[in-house]
Amino acid sequence: MKKFLTVVLALAMVLSLAACGGAETTAAPASTTTAAPADGGDETTTTAAPEGGDAADIVVGFSQIGAESDWRVANTNSIKTSVADAGFTLIFDDAQQKQENQIKALRNFITQGVDVIAFSPVVESGWDEVIEEINDAEIPLILIDRATDIEGDEYYETFMGSDFVEEGEKAGKWLVEFMEKEGRGDEDIKIVELEGTVGSAPANDRASGLRNILKDHANYEIVASQTGNFTRAEGQTVMESFLKSEDKIDVLYAHNDDMALGAIDAIKAAGLKPGEDIIIVGVDAVKKAFEAIVAGEMNCTVECSPLLGPQLVDNINKLMAGETLDKRTNTIESLYDATNAEAELPNRVY
Ligand code: AHR
Repeated sequence: MKKFLTVVLALAMVLSLAACGGAETTAAPASTTTAAPADGGDETTTTAAPEGGDAADIVVGFSQIGAESDWRVANTNSIKTSVADAGFTLIFDDAQQKQENQIKALRNFITQGVDVIAFSPVVESGWDEVIEEINDAEIPLILIDRATDIEGDEYYETFMGSDFVEEGEKAGKWLVEFMEKEGRGDEDIKIVELEGTVGSAPANDRASGLRNILKDHANYEIVASQTGNFTRAEGQTVMESFLKSEDKIDVLYAHNDDMALGAIDAIKAAGLKPGEDIIIVGVDAVKKAFEAIVAGEMNCTVECSPLLGPQLVDNINKLMAGETLDKRTNTIESLYDATNAEAELPNRVY
């Protein structure tokens, strides 16, 4: 009964937000309400599972970073679908890449008395206060995809996601081996790097991972490095400026495929052949990157799976059963290039 009241309160709260913020309210089959404040801030959606089952009493607050990339959209879909299939009630908040929106959403989840908070931190630092509030409220916290820089691991139940340093190392190893196979192993190789969101775990770690490998290969040099914020549009703009400022570019390393795809547009517009004149390495393994590899316009993508919904549901079920979760579950991931992308393309779901 207490949980039922909580769900009703949560729904009422979101509806009142909608009313005062000029928000959009939509009714979906399983009762979904969406509140988007008039200030262009973040958007909150509550999906209540059909009444009657115990699962619907479990309220999950999920604070998502935004919709900056195909990866992120696939991640949101995976979580929404899995949570709905499990019958839980989901309060979903899209922070539009802003930390202040995420902090606001997390505080709303505390006020609403959700049973579990799931959260992908946009950047690593600045969470101490709000996470202390979550811990004080004794709401179990699950970190999805990205970590924070808070020391220790007592403040969350589990981290589920990828090892971003390893992804950068995989990209570096692939590049060195590829250049050797091409007979360019001893050449001076100039690399430009499109970084992800400044201060985010994947940007920090994918940068370190590549450097961990290149430090043993003195002929490789990162000549320019700038953020493209994980978006295709910024990837294109930053690549345009790299093409103007750098005399020689042999390789583009992009911290995600969306930025690599934007850069491909810039490279083509400059009259160069992406994948030949400039070797292109991305991360994520989204379907469009596979298509670019098959078309010979991109050379490699390191997989980073966004399909974390089923694992989240599994962890919530375990938590509700009183089980202790493993502190970290790394996602098992592959790497794709011209040797295997075409065969895998029909299987891609994101
Ligand atoms: O945190 C994972 C990263 O975030 C993905 O690589 C990127 O595409 C997304 O926006």
